[in-house]
Amino acid sequence: MERSVAAYAAQTGDRLLRGLMLGVTADIATMRWPARCSLLAVDLSREMIRSVWPGDIAGVRRAVCGNWISLPARPSSCDIAIGDGSLNCVSYPDGFRAVAASVFQALKSEGIYLARCYAQPERKEEPAAVMESLAGRENPTFHHFKFRLLMAMQRNVKEGVAVDDVYRYWAQYGLDPAVVAERQGWDVEGVRDIALYRDASTVHFFPTLEEQRSILREYFDELSCSTDACVLGERCPMLVLTPRRAAGGRPGT
Ligand SMILES: C[S@@+](CC[C@H](N)C(=O)[O-])C[C@H]1O[C@@H](n2cnc3c(N)ncnc32)[C@H](O)[C@@H]1O
Repeated sequence: MERSVAAYAAQTGDRLLRGLMLGVTADIATMRWPARCSLLAVDLSREMIRSVWPGDIAGVRRAVCGNWISLPARPSSCDIAIGDGSLNCVSYPDGFRAVAASVFQALKSEGIYLARCYAQPERKEEPAAVMESLAGRENPTFHHFKFRLLMAMQRNVKEGVAVDDVYRYWAQYGLDPAVVAERQGWDVEGVRDIALYRDASTVHFFPTLEEQRSILREYFDELSCSTDACVLGERCPMLVLTPRRAAGGRPGT
C-alpha cells in the first residue's frame, strides 16, 4: 500500500492529497504517507476508533464515526481511498455495491482506490479440513488459521459467515489454547482471542475475487492486482482501482 500510494503521489505534482480510509486500521494509518496528504478514517464503531485508532494528528490524520455507505466526504473530493478487508464487512452483493458506489462518488475522477480484498478460493475448503490442518504446522499464525476457518464456514456468500458460528464450531473441539499454541508455535493470546467472537453479531462476507470484480467493475477500472508471496497471500489480493469515466452517471470521455 505504501508503494502504491507513493507511486500515485509521484504522478500528482505538488498538490495536496486527500486520503480516505474505510476503517481505522492502525498499520495503514501509521504507514509512510506522502507529507502533503491528509487522511480521514471512517468507521461505524466508536469503540473501534477508541481502541484501535493511533490518534488524530492535526493536518495529518483524523478519524470520524460514519457509515461507508454515506461517506462524510464531498463528491469528487478525495484522491486516495484505502481499506483492508473493508468490503468483507458488508453484505454481498447489496452492501458491497453500495460501498463501491459511495467510494466512487467520493473519489476524484483521477483518484485511486486501494482495496485489500479477502477472497474465497474458487474451491472452498471444508471446515473439518481446516481443523485437520492443526495436525501439521502449515498455518504460520493463528490469524491465518482463523481466516481459513472463517472462509470455510461460509455456506454461501449471501449469508456470509457469523463469527459467533465460527467460535462455536471451534469450541466444540474442546482444544486447550495453550496446548495448540505451544504445538503450532503461535502466540497463545491470539488463540484465546477467538473467544471475542462468542455471541458477537459480526458477519463477514467472502465473495470470490471474480464475484468482487463483477461489482467493482461497475464503478472502477482495475489498474493492478497484486498478491504477497506469503502463505494464503493469494486469498488477500490488493486491487488498485480507478473510477470508470462512464460509471454511476459520471460523463464518459
Ligand atoms: C475495516 S474492517 C476489517 C478489519 C481491518 N483489517 C482491521 O485491521 O481492523 C473492520 C471495521 O469495519 C467497520 N465497519 C463495518 N461496516 C462498516 C460500515 N458500513 N461503515 C463504517 N464502518 C464499518 C467495523 O466497525 C470495524 O471497525
